Amino acid sequence: MHILTSVAAVRAARARHGSIGLVPTMGFLHEGHLSLVRRAKAECGAVAVSIFVNPSQFGQGEDFQSYPRDLSRDLRCLEGADVDLAFTPQVAEIYPPGFDTRIDVGAVTRGLEGAARPGHFDGVATVVAKLLNIVQPTRAYFGQKDAQQAVVIQRLARDLDMACEIVIAPTVREADGVAMSSRNAYLSAAERKAATVLIGALTAGQACFSAGEMDAATLKAAILERLAAEPLARVDYVSVADPETLAELSDARRGALVSLAVRIGPARLIDNLLLE
Ligand code: PAJ
Repeated sequence: MHILTSVAAVRAARARHGSIGLVPTMGFLHEGHLSLVRRAKAECGAVAVSIFVNPSQFGQGEDFQSYPRDLSRDLRCLEGADVDLAFTPQVAEIYPPGFDTRIDVGAVTRGLEGAARPGHFDGVATVVAKLLNIVQPTRAYFGQKDAQQAVVIQRLARDLDMACEIVIAPTVREADGVAMSSRNAYLSAAERKAATVLIGALTAGQACFSAGEMDAATLKAAILERLAAEPLARVDYVSVADPETLAELSDARRGALVSLAVRIGPARLIDNLLLE
């Protein structure tokens, strides 16, 4: 595996490969990330993984400084997964002096996470556009875990005529259903146990829909009731939305995106499912 830190070195290395899959990450890798790596490995001639904790997607008072980092462990994981190229730039390599461009992907960035974290998706879209331009992958892989991010990146790639194919892969969960996340590292044992309420509440919403309930407000009430049963959980939002526009729906339907954000202890956790 080649470990590269400069844009120039990545460009030179990229020229030696035909099809290449890119998995952008912020590191502190877990099975969710590695599922994307394996998918890329199966579908592309070579695989590149970027590890970059992107400061521009963190707001004031968010966890940029304290975001968990363990580069040597991450590199061992990637080596074990037979990754060809790891890109681990410093902040100044991505944002050199004078850097002044921000990409605003529009309406799909305004609600949900975008409303709770103003500017977050500008930072995500800008860094993802840069990574796609630097690596020039055939395909780039993202997780459904971050459902709105997936929608934003698909919109970005379509609107800017990017040649890269965007692949969205399913959420990987722990045995108890909790979605894998680097931020789960913030949780105490009791908080980690309480985190099962996210998938519990989503499942309650799905059960309600499966039982014939179409009214989105009623589904949200069922989800909120389940969340309220967990004393450690403080709800940020519960949403039933169109999976492409992210507009809130008054009538639920198959394929609608049910998503939620919940604070538990020091962590803000998100999860989602598509109604079946
Ligand atoms: P990060 O949170 O490190 O996630 C990197 C990729 O892994 C994202 O596409 C995310 O959706 C996916 N992922 C995380 N947890 C997952 C899980 N449990 N199952 C499946 N996929 C999962 O998302 C980011 O970094 C950044 O915003 C980034 C896109 C790298 C831009 O900075």
